Amino acid sequence: MAMWGGRFTKGMDPEFALFQRSLEVDWRLLEEDIEGSKAWAEALTEAGLLSREERDWLLASLGTIALAAENQDRPPEGTPAEDVHTFVEDALSAAGAVAAKLHTGRSRNEQMAADLRLFVKDVASDADAALLDLEEALLDFAGRTAQVPIPGYTHLRSAQPILFAHWALAYFEMFERDRGRLRDAVRRADLCPLGSGALAGCAFPIHREKIAKRLGFAGITRNSIDAVSDRDFAAEILGAASIGGIHLSRLSEDLILYSSPEFGFVELDESVCTGSSLMPQKKNPDALELIRAKGGRTLGSFTTLVATMKGLPLAYDRDFQDDKPPLFEGCDAWLGALRVAARVISGCRPNPDRCRAAASAGLSTATDAADWLVKRGVPFRAAHGIVGKVVRRCLDLGKDLATLPLEEYRAIDPTFDTSIFEAIKVEASLAARDVIGGTAPSRVAAAISDARNRLAEAKR
Ligand code: ARG
Repeated sequence: MAMWGGRFTKGMDPEFALFQRSLEVDWRLLEEDIEGSKAWAEALTEAGLLSREERDWLLASLGTIALAAENQDRPPEGTPAEDVHTFVEDALSAAGAVAAKLHTGRSRNEQMAADLRLFVKDVASDADAALLDLEEALLDFAGRTAQVPIPGYTHLRSAQPILFAHWALAYFEMFERDRGRLRDAVRRADLCPLGSGALAGCAFPIHREKIAKRLGFAGITRNSIDAVSDRDFAAEILGAASIGGIHLSRLSEDLILYSSPEFGFVELDESVCTGSSLMPQKKNPDALELIRAKGGRTLGSFTTLVATMKGLPLAYDRDFQDDKPPLFEGCDAWLGALRVAARVISGCRPNPDRCRAAASAGLSTATDAADWLVKRGVPFRAAHGIVGKVVRRCLDLGKDLATLPLEEYRAIDPTFDTSIFEAIKVEASLAARDVIGGTAPSRVAAAISDARNRLAEAKR
């Protein structure tokens, strides 16, 4: 039954009735909604509006509704209820007359705000756990590749050698920041709006802090208008999901390239790949491609939500009902991508020979040749020019820096001697980058152990 109707003389247009119904979507908030109603029943009792017997009946009946709905991922067939709040009230009313007292002093507007905040807190804790698992997988990978060089790229052209572990740690840092964004978002989401009424505040003496505490909120919202009409806590988690989704999509893209036969740096586990219905030889990185695609979904969800909110007058507007599809979709996309990404990384097997060969191929240590000249007093800009000529010569002769004869070097600049060939080795290039945050093996080893400590701390 509708929660309203007294002032109406006409029924709802059937097309509109379908259009405005949201139960299929907000069914997902049933548990939160019931918890909120239980807390409300307690508050009404403390305020002298319900007897203890009435409260006990309400709590028991709400519990029965929750139990019946457990593990049901959609509302019962044929339920006419408009939304999740109506569903609960209908179910209660069918059980007994006391149901008619529960909505005293409250509004669906604040109920929905409370449900959504609880949902966001829940998702944030799931996302944090999924991020930690992914970080752990990355650190294991870093441990397996702490001695394995690969080409580091800029513009997707080989730039300077790096350790494969250094690449993995770059993503570890991104995911740490994603966790930080979550923590920050939760701090603001963790406030209970109940007691705000439809917009002006509750007209009965309910104890807002107690309600908040009962629901596990850290505090209460400070303005009733804001509390029912603000969704920035939802936008923030979708913002975190969007940025996190972008990180995941870049990780995927790197691994799609690195696992291709052309690169061959890693072998993906077959359990996260698929074949082709036509081409028998194919082993496709579909898991990574779908993770990459989810970056579009999370960003799209964020955009949908904030565009829906833009320009709405205070306080609640029915537009708010459309906050849920993007919120759910964006969070699901992020969580799914995080969980699969951890599995992909865990099963990722590096191919050290291919990595090493690629890292030392061609001209990847040209910067080190220039640095060698700098150490002998040549100004860097001049050194850059000289090595540019060396590179040109290599290209013309079909040689690389290691196979170009010393006479060729010396013909370009007589400063060169045989020690240049030590300086342009991959190992020397790596070892030279001996700063905090650099790719020198000792620095990377320290970074791995630092990251492990941070992870252990986070898991405590
Ligand atoms: N289904 C609504 C929503 O999701 C619940 C609140 C309805 N409030 C109202 N005043 N019509 O936002």
